[in-house]
Amino acid sequence: MKRILITGASGFIGSFFVEKALEQGYEVYAAVRETSDLSYLQDSRIIFFKANLSEKESIKEHIEKIGRFDYIIHNAGLTKTCKKEMFDFVNYQITKNIIEALYETNKIPDKFILMSSLAAYGPGNPKTLEPIKISDEQKPVSLYGKSKLKVEKYLKSLNNFPYLIFRPTGVYGPREKDYYIMYKTIKNGLETYIGTKEQHITFIYVKDLVNIIFEAIKSNTINKSYFVTDLKSYTAKEFNEIIKKELNKKTISIVIPSIIVKTIAYIGEKTSCFFKNSIPTLNTEKFKEISEKNWLCDSSNLVQDFNFAPEYDLKKGVKEAISWYKKKKLL
Ligand SMILES: NC(=O)c1ccc[n+]([C@@H]2O[C@H](COP(=O)([O-])OP(=O)(O)OC[C@H]3O[C@@H](n4cnc5c(N)ncnc54)[C@H](OP(=O)(O)O)[C@@H]3O)[C@@H](O)[C@H]2O)c1
Repeated sequence: MKRILITGASGFIGSFFVEKALEQGYEVYAAVRETSDLSYLQDSRIIFFKANLSEKESIKEHIEKIGRFDYIIHNAGLTKTCKKEMFDFVNYQITKNIIEALYETNKIPDKFILMSSLAAYGPGNPKTLEPIKISDEQKPVSLYGKSKLKVEKYLKSLNNFPYLIFRPTGVYGPREKDYYIMYKTIKNGLETYIGTKEQHITFIYVKDLVNIIFEAIKSNTINKSYFVTDLKSYTAKEFNEIIKKELNKKTISIVIPSIIVKTIAYIGEKTSCFFKNSIPTLNTEKFKEISEKNWLCDSSNLVQDFNFAPEYDLKKGVKEAISWYKKKKLL
Protein backbone atom coordinates (compact mmCIF):
# COMPACT_ATOMS: atom_id res chain seq x y z
CA MET A 1 0.00 0.00 0.00
CA LYS A 2 1.51 3.33 -1.05
CA ARG A 3 1.69 5.91 1.69
CA ILE A 4 0.69 9.52 1.10
CA LEU A 5 0.88 12.62 3.29
CA ILE A 6 -1.60 15.43 2.57
CA THR A 7 -1.03 18.77 4.28
CA GLY A 8 -3.85 21.29 4.65
CA ALA A 9 -6.12 18.25 4.80
CA SER A 10 -8.80 20.06 6.80
CA GLY A 11 -9.27 22.77 4.15
CA PHE A 12 -11.58 22.95 1.16
CA ILE A 13 -9.28 21.33 -1.43
CA GLY A 14 -7.39 19.20 1.10
CA SER A 15 -10.53 17.35 2.18
CA PHE A 16 -11.11 16.32 -1.46
CA PHE A 17 -7.50 15.14 -1.76
CA VAL A 18 -8.02 12.95 1.30
CA GLU A 19 -11.23 11.43 -0.09
CA LYS A 20 -9.62 10.69 -3.44
CA ALA A 21 -6.53 9.17 -1.84
CA LEU A 22 -8.69 6.84 0.27
CA GLU A 23 -10.75 5.90 -2.78
CA GLN A 24 -7.54 5.04 -4.63
CA GLY A 25 -6.31 2.76 -1.87
CA TYR A 26 -3.48 4.82 -0.41
CA GLU A 27 -2.50 4.73 3.26
CA VAL A 28 -3.56 8.29 4.00
CA TYR A 29 -1.88 10.61 6.50
CA ALA A 30 -3.73 13.88 6.93
CA ALA A 31 -1.67 16.73 8.39
CA VAL A 32 -3.86 18.76 10.72
CA ARG A 33 -3.48 21.16 13.63
CA GLU A 34 -5.03 20.99 17.11
CA THR A 35 -7.34 23.80 15.99
CA SER A 36 -8.28 22.31 12.59
CA ASP A 37 -11.94 21.65 11.80
CA LEU A 38 -12.15 17.90 11.15
CA SER A 39 -15.75 17.88 9.81
CA TYR A 40 -14.70 16.46 6.44
CA LEU A 41 -12.08 14.10 7.85
CA GLN A 42 -14.33 11.59 9.57
CA ASP A 43 -13.29 8.44 7.70
CA SER A 44 -11.78 5.97 10.18
CA ARG A 45 -9.03 5.00 7.69
CA ILE A 46 -7.47 8.46 7.97
CA ILE A 47 -4.29 8.61 10.06
CA PHE A 48 -3.67 12.07 11.50
CA PHE A 49 -0.21 13.60 11.22
CA LYS A 50 0.02 16.15 13.99
CA ALA A 51 3.51 17.56 13.56
CA ASN A 52 3.79 21.30 14.03
CA LEU A 53 4.74 22.36 10.49
CA SER A 54 6.13 25.62 11.85
CA GLU A 55 8.93 23.62 13.53
CA LYS A 56 11.32 21.51 11.50
CA GLU A 57 12.25 19.38 14.53
CA SER A 58 8.62 18.45 15.11
CA ILE A 59 8.26 17.35 11.46
CA LYS A 60 11.49 15.34 11.69
CA GLU A 61 10.33 13.54 14.85
CA HIS A 62 7.06 12.54 13.21
CA ILE A 63 8.73 11.39 10.01
CA GLU A 64 11.30 9.34 11.96
CA LYS A 65 8.47 7.63 13.83
CA ILE A 66 6.25 6.94 10.82
CA GLY A 67 8.83 6.31 8.11
CA ARG A 68 9.02 7.46 4.53
CA PHE A 69 6.02 8.71 2.56
CA ASP A 70 5.85 7.59 -1.07
CA TYR A 71 4.10 10.82 -1.98
CA ILE A 72 3.45 14.17 -0.36
CA ILE A 73 0.80 16.62 -1.48
CA HIS A 74 1.79 19.87 0.18
CA ASN A 75 -1.49 21.68 -0.02
CA ALA A 76 -1.46 23.71 3.24
CA GLY A 77 -1.41 27.38 2.42
CA LEU A 78 -2.52 30.78 3.52
CA THR A 79 -4.71 32.75 1.12
CA LYS A 80 -5.74 35.62 3.41
CA THR A 81 -4.52 37.00 6.72
CA CYS A 82 -4.52 40.11 8.92
CA LYS A 83 -0.78 39.57 9.52
CA LYS A 84 0.82 40.09 6.13
CA GLU A 85 4.16 38.55 7.14
CA MET A 86 2.31 35.26 7.60
CA PHE A 87 1.96 34.78 3.82
CA ASP A 88 5.69 34.19 3.60
CA PHE A 89 5.85 32.17 6.77
CA VAL A 90 3.09 29.70 5.87
CA ASN A 91 3.53 29.47 2.11
CA TYR A 92 7.33 29.56 1.98
CA GLN A 93 8.92 28.85 5.36
CA ILE A 94 6.68 25.90 6.27
CA THR A 95 7.37 24.29 2.89
CA LYS A 96 11.08 24.78 3.49
CA ASN A 97 10.73 23.21 6.96
CA ILE A 98 9.07 20.12 5.49
CA ILE A 99 11.64 19.73 2.72
CA GLU A 100 14.62 20.22 5.06
CA ALA A 101 13.08 17.66 7.41
CA LEU A 102 12.80 15.22 4.47
CA TYR A 103 16.46 15.76 3.53
CA GLU A 104 17.71 15.55 7.10
CA THR A 105 15.84 12.31 7.79
CA ASN A 106 16.86 10.96 4.39
CA LYS A 107 13.21 10.30 3.57
CA ILE A 108 12.67 12.10 0.26
CA PRO A 109 9.39 10.90 -1.29
CA ASP A 110 8.97 9.65 -4.86
CA LYS A 111 7.05 12.81 -5.58
CA PHE A 112 6.37 16.06 -3.78
CA ILE A 113 3.38 18.00 -5.10
CA LEU A 114 3.29 21.71 -4.36
CA MET A 115 -0.04 23.48 -4.51
CA SER A 116 0.96 26.86 -5.80
CA SER A 117 -1.42 29.25 -7.55
CA LEU A 118 -1.95 31.15 -10.78
CA ALA A 119 -1.41 34.16 -8.48
CA ALA A 120 2.31 33.25 -8.50
CA TYR A 121 2.41 34.53 -12.10
CA GLY A 122 0.14 37.51 -11.71
CA PRO A 123 -2.40 38.57 -14.34
CA GLY A 124 -1.98 38.57 -18.10
CA ASN A 125 -1.98 41.59 -20.40
CA PRO A 126 -5.34 43.39 -20.01
CA LYS A 127 -5.23 44.76 -23.56
CA THR A 128 -4.15 41.81 -25.71
CA LEU A 129 -5.93 39.31 -23.41
CA GLU A 130 -3.21 36.80 -24.24
CA PRO A 131 -3.40 33.79 -21.89
CA ILE A 132 -0.56 33.61 -19.37
CA LYS A 133 2.04 31.04 -20.44
CA ILE A 134 4.56 29.06 -18.37
CA SER A 135 7.34 30.78 -20.31
CA ASP A 136 6.11 34.25 -19.24
CA GLU A 137 7.94 36.18 -16.56
CA GLN A 138 6.32 35.67 -13.13
CA LYS A 139 5.00 39.01 -11.89
CA PRO A 140 2.63 38.42 -8.96
CA VAL A 141 0.60 41.43 -7.81
CA SER A 142 -0.34 40.27 -4.29
CA LEU A 143 1.72 39.24 -1.27
CA TYR A 144 0.02 35.85 -1.51
CA GLY A 145 1.23 35.46 -5.11
CA LYS A 146 4.71 36.67 -4.17
CA SER A 147 4.98 34.08 -1.38
CA LYS A 148 3.93 31.32 -3.82
CA LEU A 149 6.56 32.52 -6.30
CA LYS A 150 9.20 32.46 -3.56
CA VAL A 151 8.41 28.86 -2.64
CA GLU A 152 8.38 27.83 -6.31
CA LYS A 153 11.85 29.32 -6.75
CA TYR A 154 13.04 27.47 -3.64
CA LEU A 155 11.76 24.13 -4.98
CA LYS A 156 13.39 24.70 -8.36
CA SER A 157 16.71 25.51 -6.68
CA LEU A 158 16.93 22.07 -5.04
CA ASN A 159 19.16 19.29 -6.35
CA ASN A 160 17.48 16.05 -7.37
CA PHE A 161 14.26 16.79 -5.60
CA PRO A 162 11.26 15.19 -7.37
CA TYR A 163 8.66 17.94 -7.32
CA LEU A 164 5.66 18.90 -9.43
CA ILE A 165 4.16 22.37 -9.13
CA PHE A 166 0.46 22.90 -9.78
CA ARG A 167 -0.97 26.39 -10.12
CA PRO A 168 -4.73 26.22 -10.02
CA THR A 169 -6.80 29.16 -11.10
CA GLY A 170 -10.00 29.81 -9.08
CA VAL A 171 -11.09 26.51 -7.53
CA TYR A 172 -14.79 26.06 -6.83
CA GLY A 173 -17.13 23.32 -5.70
CA PRO A 174 -18.88 22.02 -2.59
CA ARG A 175 -17.44 23.19 0.80
CA GLU A 176 -15.89 26.29 -0.78
CA LYS A 177 -16.40 29.59 1.05
CA ASP A 178 -15.40 32.53 -1.19
CA TYR A 179 -17.35 31.98 -4.43
CA TYR A 180 -20.17 30.94 -2.11
CA ILE A 181 -20.51 34.63 -1.18
CA MET A 182 -21.25 35.37 -4.86
CA TYR A 183 -23.92 32.69 -4.98
CA LYS A 184 -25.51 34.19 -1.86
CA THR A 185 -25.35 37.74 -3.25
CA ILE A 186 -27.09 36.61 -6.43
CA LYS A 187 -29.65 34.68 -4.39
CA ASN A 188 -30.36 38.03 -2.70
CA GLY A 189 -31.01 39.60 -6.10
CA LEU A 190 -27.74 41.46 -6.60
CA GLU A 191 -25.12 40.92 -9.28
CA THR A 192 -21.89 42.86 -8.77
CA TYR A 193 -18.87 43.60 -10.93
CA ILE A 194 -15.60 45.37 -10.24
CA GLY A 195 -15.04 48.06 -12.85
CA THR A 196 -16.27 45.99 -15.81
CA LYS A 197 -18.35 42.97 -16.79
CA GLU A 198 -15.60 42.05 -19.26
CA GLN A 199 -13.20 40.53 -16.79
CA HIS A 200 -11.69 37.37 -18.32
CA ILE A 201 -11.38 34.52 -15.88
CA THR A 202 -10.71 30.81 -15.62
CA PHE A 203 -11.95 28.09 -13.28
CA ILE A 204 -11.32 24.54 -12.19
CA TYR A 205 -13.84 22.35 -10.42
CA VAL A 206 -12.32 20.87 -7.27
CA LYS A 207 -12.91 17.23 -8.32
CA ASP A 208 -11.16 17.73 -11.67
CA LEU A 209 -8.23 19.39 -9.90
CA VAL A 210 -7.86 16.49 -7.51
CA ASN A 211 -8.22 13.89 -10.30
CA ILE A 212 -5.49 15.39 -12.44
CA ILE A 213 -3.09 15.62 -9.52
CA PHE A 214 -3.55 11.93 -8.77
CA GLU A 215 -2.91 11.16 -12.45
CA ALA A 216 0.28 13.19 -12.20
CA ILE A 217 1.34 11.33 -9.07
CA LYS A 218 1.04 8.01 -10.90
CA SER A 219 3.02 9.24 -13.91
CA ASN A 220 6.81 9.29 -14.29
CA THR A 221 6.85 13.05 -14.78
CA ILE A 222 8.81 15.18 -12.31
CA ASN A 223 10.22 18.70 -12.04
CA LYS A 224 7.60 20.39 -14.17
CA SER A 225 4.86 22.92 -13.51
CA TYR A 226 1.29 23.33 -14.68
CA PHE A 227 -1.54 25.84 -14.66
CA VAL A 228 -4.79 24.07 -13.84
CA THR A 229 -8.02 25.23 -15.51
CA ASP A 230 -10.95 23.46 -17.15
CA LEU A 231 -9.29 24.43 -20.47
CA LYS A 232 -11.96 27.06 -21.15
CA SER A 233 -12.21 30.81 -20.60
CA TYR A 234 -15.11 32.80 -19.24
CA THR A 235 -16.10 36.37 -18.48
CA ALA A 236 -17.37 37.57 -15.11
CA LYS A 237 -20.72 38.17 -16.81
CA GLU A 238 -20.91 34.57 -18.05
CA PHE A 239 -20.13 33.30 -14.56
CA ASN A 240 -22.94 35.38 -13.06
CA GLU A 241 -25.36 34.28 -15.81
CA ILE A 242 -24.67 30.63 -15.01
CA ILE A 243 -25.28 31.20 -11.29
CA LYS A 244 -28.46 33.19 -11.97
CA LYS A 245 -29.83 30.49 -14.22
CA GLU A 246 -29.05 27.77 -11.71
CA LEU A 247 -30.67 29.73 -8.87
CA ASN A 248 -33.51 30.82 -11.15
CA LYS A 249 -33.04 34.41 -9.99
CA LYS A 250 -33.52 37.82 -11.60
CA THR A 251 -30.99 40.36 -10.36
CA ILE A 252 -30.10 44.02 -10.32
CA SER A 253 -26.68 44.32 -11.90
CA ILE A 254 -24.18 46.90 -10.61
CA VAL A 255 -20.72 47.71 -11.94
CA ILE A 256 -18.89 49.19 -8.96
CA PRO A 257 -15.93 51.46 -9.80
CA SER A 258 -12.63 49.88 -8.76
CA ILE A 259 -11.76 52.74 -6.40
CA ILE A 260 -14.94 52.17 -4.41
CA VAL A 261 -14.27 48.42 -4.12
CA LYS A 262 -10.71 49.22 -3.02
CA THR A 263 -12.03 51.54 -0.32
CA ILE A 264 -14.56 48.96 0.88
CA ALA A 265 -11.77 46.35 0.99
CA TYR A 266 -9.56 48.69 3.02
CA ILE A 267 -12.20 49.69 5.55
CA GLY A 268 -13.54 46.13 5.84
CA GLU A 269 -10.07 44.75 6.46
CA LYS A 270 -9.09 47.39 9.04
CA THR A 271 -12.27 47.03 11.08
CA SER A 272 -12.53 43.26 10.88
CA CYS A 273 -8.85 42.74 11.76
CA PHE A 274 -9.04 45.25 14.61
CA PHE A 275 -12.31 44.14 16.21
CA LYS A 276 -12.51 40.44 15.32
CA ASN A 277 -8.94 39.53 14.38
CA SER A 278 -10.36 37.94 11.24
CA ILE A 279 -9.76 38.88 7.62
CA PRO A 280 -12.74 39.34 5.27
CA THR A 281 -12.84 37.64 1.85
CA LEU A 282 -12.73 41.07 0.22
CA ASN A 283 -9.46 42.51 1.55
CA THR A 284 -6.72 44.78 0.19
CA GLU A 285 -4.49 41.94 -1.06
CA LYS A 286 -7.41 40.12 -2.69
CA PHE A 287 -8.48 43.37 -4.34
CA LYS A 288 -5.14 43.51 -6.18
CA GLU A 289 -6.09 40.22 -7.85
CA ILE A 290 -9.82 40.48 -8.41
CA SER A 291 -9.55 43.93 -9.95
CA GLU A 292 -7.35 42.57 -12.79
CA LYS A 293 -8.92 42.01 -16.21
CA ASN A 294 -7.04 39.00 -17.54
CA TRP A 295 -6.68 35.73 -15.66
CA LEU A 296 -6.61 33.52 -18.74
CA CYS A 297 -3.82 30.95 -18.80
CA ASP A 298 -2.53 28.13 -20.92
CA SER A 299 -2.98 24.66 -19.39
CA SER A 300 -2.19 22.75 -22.57
CA ASN A 301 0.79 20.91 -21.03
CA LEU A 302 -1.69 19.13 -18.73
CA VAL A 303 -3.30 17.66 -21.82
CA GLN A 304 0.05 16.81 -23.41
CA ASP A 305 1.54 15.19 -20.31
CA PHE A 306 -1.49 13.56 -18.65
CA ASN A 307 -4.27 13.52 -21.29
CA PHE A 308 -6.22 15.90 -19.09
CA ALA A 309 -9.91 15.96 -20.05
CA PRO A 310 -11.91 17.77 -17.36
CA GLU A 311 -15.31 16.29 -16.51
CA TYR A 312 -16.74 19.64 -15.47
CA ASP A 313 -17.16 22.90 -17.31
CA LEU A 314 -18.42 25.92 -15.36
CA LYS A 315 -22.08 25.16 -16.03
CA LYS A 316 -21.89 21.58 -14.80
CA GLY A 317 -19.66 22.48 -11.85
CA VAL A 318 -21.81 25.39 -10.64
CA LYS A 319 -24.89 23.18 -10.90
CA GLU A 320 -23.32 20.52 -8.69
CA ALA A 321 -21.89 23.07 -6.23
CA ILE A 322 -25.19 24.93 -5.86
CA SER A 323 -27.04 21.68 -5.39
CA TRP A 324 -24.64 20.86 -2.52
CA TYR A 325 -25.13 24.30 -0.86
CA LYS A 326 -28.89 23.85 -1.18
CA LYS A 327 -28.76 20.39 0.36
CA LYS A 328 -26.78 21.85 3.27
CA LYS A 329 -29.39 24.63 3.52
CA LEU A 330 -26.68 27.21 2.81
CA LEU A 331 -28.57 28.61 -0.18
N1 LIG B 1 -9.12 27.82 -3.43
C1 LIG B 1 -8.54 28.29 -4.52
O1 LIG B 1 -9.19 28.89 -5.38
C2 LIG B 1 -7.06 28.09 -4.75
C3 LIG B 1 -6.50 28.51 -5.96
C4 LIG B 1 -5.15 28.32 -6.18
C5 LIG B 1 -4.36 27.72 -5.22
N2 LIG B 1 -4.90 27.35 -4.03
C6 LIG B 1 -4.02 26.72 -3.02
O2 LIG B 1 -4.57 25.48 -2.63
C7 LIG B 1 -4.25 25.20 -1.27
C8 LIG B 1 -5.53 24.88 -0.50
O3 LIG B 1 -6.40 25.99 -0.59
P1 LIG B 1 -7.89 25.96 -0.02
O4 LIG B 1 -8.69 26.84 -0.90
O5 LIG B 1 -8.33 24.57 0.25
O6 LIG B 1 -7.67 26.75 1.35
P2 LIG B 1 -8.27 26.51 2.81
O7 LIG B 1 -9.63 25.92 2.75
O8 LIG B 1 -8.07 27.79 3.51
O9 LIG B 1 -7.29 25.43 3.43
C9 LIG B 1 -5.99 25.77 3.83
C10 LIG B 1 -5.40 24.60 4.60
O10 LIG B 1 -4.07 24.95 4.98
C11 LIG B 1 -3.91 24.73 6.37
N3 LIG B 1 -2.98 25.66 6.99
C12 LIG B 1 -3.02 27.01 6.94
N4 LIG B 1 -2.04 27.54 7.70
C13 LIG B 1 -1.38 26.47 8.25
C14 LIG B 1 -0.28 26.35 9.14
N5 LIG B 1 0.33 27.44 9.64
N6 LIG B 1 0.12 25.12 9.50
C15 LIG B 1 -0.50 24.03 9.02
N7 LIG B 1 -1.56 24.06 8.17
C16 LIG B 1 -1.98 25.28 7.80
C17 LIG B 1 -5.31 24.92 6.95
O11 LIG B 1 -5.38 24.28 8.22
P3 LIG B 1 -6.47 24.73 9.34
O12 LIG B 1 -7.75 24.07 8.89
O13 LIG B 1 -5.93 24.17 10.58
O14 LIG B 1 -6.54 26.22 9.30
C18 LIG B 1 -6.17 24.28 5.88
O15 LIG B 1 -6.23 22.89 6.06
C19 LIG B 1 -3.51 26.44 -0.74
O16 LIG B 1 -2.12 26.19 -0.79
C20 LIG B 1 -3.89 27.53 -1.73
O17 LIG B 1 -2.90 28.51 -1.82
C21 LIG B 1 -6.23 27.53 -3.77
